[in-house]
Amino acid sequence: MSPLLSLRNIWLEYGDKIVLENVNLDIEAGSFVSIIGPSGAGKSSLLRVVLGQEVPTRGRIFLDGEPLLSECGPDRGVVFQRYSVFPHLSALRNTVFGLECEKAPLSARLFGKARRAAEAEAAEMLDAVGLGHAMHVYPAQMSGGMQQRLAIAQALIKRPRILLLDEPFGALDPGIRADMHGLIRRLWRDNGLTIIMVTHDIREAFSLGTRVLAFDKRRHDPHAPHRFGATAVYDLPLRKAEPEETPDAADQGQPESKESVGHG
Ligand SMILES: Nc1ncnc2c1ncn2[C@@H]1O[C@H](COP(=O)(O)OP(=O)(O)OP(=O)(O)O)[C@@H](O)[C@H]1O
Ligand SMILES: [Mg+2]
Repeated sequence: MSPLLSLRNIWLEYGDKIVLENVNLDIEAGSFVSIIGPSGAGKSSLLRVVLGQEVPTRGRIFLDGEPLLSECGPDRGVVFQRYSVFPHLSALRNTVFGLECEKAPLSARLFGKARRAAEAEAAEMLDAVGLGHAMHVYPAQMSGGMQQRLAIAQALIKRPRILLLDEPFGALDPGIRADMHGLIRRLWRDNGLTIIMVTHDIREAFSLGTRVLAFDKRRHDPHAPHRFGATAVYDLPLRKAEPEETPDAADQGQPESKESVGHG
């Protein structure tokens, strides 16, 4: 099977500073890839490259065997550590906005039937992330966990194939985090998503991922720390990529929040 996403010989440099050095990765459809590594290793930079926000200095990226367009496409969605939702819009409007941008790129507004369809879809997505009761609430009135659920709904309503998560649960309390692990695992499974998640929490990386990548520099020059970039120094496959084919975790009838913290 050919990979969904391929990175070939990717280098990212800012001036004379090398951030990513010769990154080669194949990511299979349906996998959940966790990325760990020290601060400043270039993990967020790598996500920006995959998202198309940053153009690599060298190398090529392929999506389904085709060169990746150097702009964010609807095939890729992203959720950051800090809430990226619009403060002046309700949960429902925030979620509808994701669709409006895609379907009416110039005016970013939908009307009539199209708008009602978008609202129905947004309401369904908010339900799926556990915000069905909070459609008309504004971000300032929400907890951190609720805001992250909203950011996830906003990313998922565009039906991306690849969901990029940059420390999405880093700012949340442990209890809320466990709930979010259950949620993201369910969304991953139900939507056949491919997920690439950066985290500083090793336990989270291993309990959610089907594969863990550790990014770091292979070589250090103490006199010129910027001279070498980071790459995947460890690549650990954990379990089978396709979520549908590992039903045992799903069918035990365990509450999802427990399931996600039990092993690591
Ligand atoms: N636009 C930029 N211009 C110059 N240097 C940059 C730019 N963006 C990132 N860098 C540098 O690239 C390196 C990697 O940054 P990046 O944010 O990708 O690291 P990270 O692994 O995500 O770190 P953290 O775990 O702290 O989030 C850092 O040294 C950073 O200073
Ligand atoms: Mg980062």
